[in-house]
Amino acid sequence: MTDTEESGDRTAHPWPPVERTPRVGAREKVTGAARYGADHAPPGLAYAIPVVATAGKGRITGLDTAEAAAVPGVLLILSHLDDLGIAPAGYVMADGYAFQSLQPLLDDRIAYRGQPIALVVADTLVAAVHAAGLVRAAYDEEPFAVELDAAGTETVLQEEALPLPFLADVVVGDADGAYERSPLRVDAVYETGPQHQVPMELIGGVAEWHGDTLVVHEGTQSAGALRGGLARQLGIDPDRVQVITPYVGGGFGQKNSLQPHLAPLAVAARRLGRPVKLVLPRAHTFHAASFRPVSRHRVRLGADRSGRLLAAIHEVDQQASRRDLLPATYTEITSRLYGISSFRGRQRHVRTDVQTPGYMRAPFEHPAAFALESALDELACAAGRDPVELRLSNDAGADPVTGKPFSSRHLAACLRRGAELFGWAERPPDPGSMRETDGTLVGWGVAAGAYPVMTVPVLARLRARADGRVLAEVGGHEMGQGITTALARAVAGDLGIGVDRVDVVVGDTRVVPHHLTAGAWGTNSTLLAVHAALLELRARLGVPREGPVDVAAAVAAAGRSAPEQDGAEVVAEALTKGPGQPPEAVDRMRAGLVAPAGPEYPGHVAFSFIAHFAEVRVAPAAPRVRVSRVVSVADCGRVASPVTAEAQVRGAVVWGIGAALSEHSEVDPRFGGFVNADLADYVIPVNADVGRIEVAFVGEPDFTLNPTGVKTLGEVALVGVAPAIANAVFHATGRRPRSLPIRVEDLL
Ligand code: MOS
Repeated sequence: MTDTEESGDRTAHPWPPVERTPRVGAREKVTGAARYGADHAPPGLAYAIPVVATAGKGRITGLDTAEAAAVPGVLLILSHLDDLGIAPAGYVMADGYAFQSLQPLLDDRIAYRGQPIALVVADTLVAAVHAAGLVRAAYDEEPFAVELDAAGTETVLQEEALPLPFLADVVVGDADGAYERSPLRVDAVYETGPQHQVPMELIGGVAEWHGDTLVVHEGTQSAGALRGGLARQLGIDPDRVQVITPYVGGGFGQKNSLQPHLAPLAVAARRLGRPVKLVLPRAHTFHAASFRPVSRHRVRLGADRSGRLLAAIHEVDQQASRRDLLPATYTEITSRLYGISSFRGRQRHVRTDVQTPGYMRAPFEHPAAFALESALDELACAAGRDPVELRLSNDAGADPVTGKPFSSRHLAACLRRGAELFGWAERPPDPGSMRETDGTLVGWGVAAGAYPVMTVPVLARLRARADGRVLAEVGGHEMGQGITTALARAVAGDLGIGVDRVDVVVGDTRVVPHHLTAGAWGTNSTLLAVHAALLELRARLGVPREGPVDVAAAVAAAGRSAPEQDGAEVVAEALTKGPGQPPEAVDRMRAGLVAPAGPEYPGHVAFSFIAHFAEVRVAPAAPRVRVSRVVSVADCGRVASPVTAEAQVRGAVVWGIGAALSEHSEVDPRFGGFVNADLADYVIPVNADVGRIEVAFVGEPDFTLNPTGVKTLGEVALVGVAPAIANAVFHATGRRPRSLPIRVEDLL
């Protein structure tokens, strides 16, 4: 096994291209053969359903389960009245495993509406659901706050509350002084509301005990966190927990850590001596996991008369729970998207009575880009400059924050290529100047985005088989983003074999340890390990470092020359981590804790970039906005898998349409919790809401970053979509959207 220092062998050959490989597993998915966590149905399965609090905050003063327990088929009702023997798993961003530090069912406290207060288990789902509806709770209610400006919130400064160097306010030069001296100034407040990830696959899975080993089948982005967290909660050795999650039906951050249903589910399975399945109803998922918090951004931009930026000040308030602070990094991109020599950031947290908010696709970058890229559009208007030209003239050379070089930066190429594909040159500058004969207003908008390139420790094992097939066992998760396809292509391309000769296993703690797959680092990090493992495999097979390999013949020859092997397979492993990462990062990965490196690396700073161009049509009577076309051009380094990469970007554009125009988790200060907790009232785009989407890539490999040249894509793809749409709405109507989603009433 190679424990590669830094990011592997930099002299390694680039992969031969494997053009447009179809998505691996596509057929299984569309034919229903793919088995998701809750599809597991072992014999003797029992069914669980939680009961949730209907008070906004307070204490349970009475819990009557008698009627529920009398329902035929009910096996067990767990609540704080039992001693569940569960320890807290700890908050994922504070060396723990769970999406929040609170573990429900352990005491009588209610922190937020929707918090579980009991778990009903029955022979059938029907019995469990019926019984859950018969559990009666009485509460001693307390006042609560669910909005940023509500009475009873508490605001804390991030750099005081979370005194870690990477969370300190970004300060470069004297931004306030430079702003005051600037001839052109923009000062505006932008807001994005709470949102929920609503992936297609509901939260849930199956817990079963095989002797003293707990086996969990559940869709998750962090099999290692479930393993480590359940071991901590149940007081057992992590080796006695197995997590199997070959497919995840969408994660988007919702499934990035342990959720509080799982330990009680394991307790129920142990007490009953039966496997227990829990699939949360959609409504429960709005309170059972994290969500995108409200954030409010005051942005001040100072520029010279030509629009050349002299200063930026970005102050953010982000909603928090009472217990945990989600480390905010909004200013990580706003300080770097352009060459701004004076920058000051300030990030604060506003404690409210909700479950702990968390990561949702481009968690900080999407709201931050809405604020900055809207403000930049306002500046372009003030300066009388074309918004693309303005951005190009403010491009950065070296990283404005650290002074280090970027590993690669092709934002200008994204803007130029996008402008060309979109036909931007035809855009009349004045708002309201494109109108169709029926009165429909047409607008064109542009916005850019950036996202940090992070790298995590990964163990990859390759098994070359006598039949010529290669099995790749990799610490990573497939939530539809295409990691399996990228890995299969890498192995096939390197060895010169068909993609159909490669089998990829991800999401299985029985074969390799798993770091969280999030932050778009999954593909680049796993490819790095697979790349190193391929070099090791070639050495073990005794074949040259590059060029096609007859795998079957090489395995047979290796078997003859090494009689201690059985001749059936040759195995190679590699363990990689990010450049400059300390060895403890690998220990953390093995324990299921988070350990990302970047975007600041020893020699450079690494970001992916994107530019989006949007066309909107605003109806004449009720000013309803439709997005008729979008062009997106990304700089993600080498494109690891064109088919799935394009799908990632198209999906992000659809997501951005929802973020710009419809998605909003509604709160009601009288009740607490989120009230539009279903897919009828939480409005995501449907096909009819989505116009033409054209996706292109710069495609320049970033070999400064790593030997595969791959940066990151899944998150940057969303960054800038919403402001491109908002800027197009301004161009169509002359009305400046400063909060998302943009509603009809905002344009009246
Ligand atoms: Mo992502 S929001 O880091 O899954």
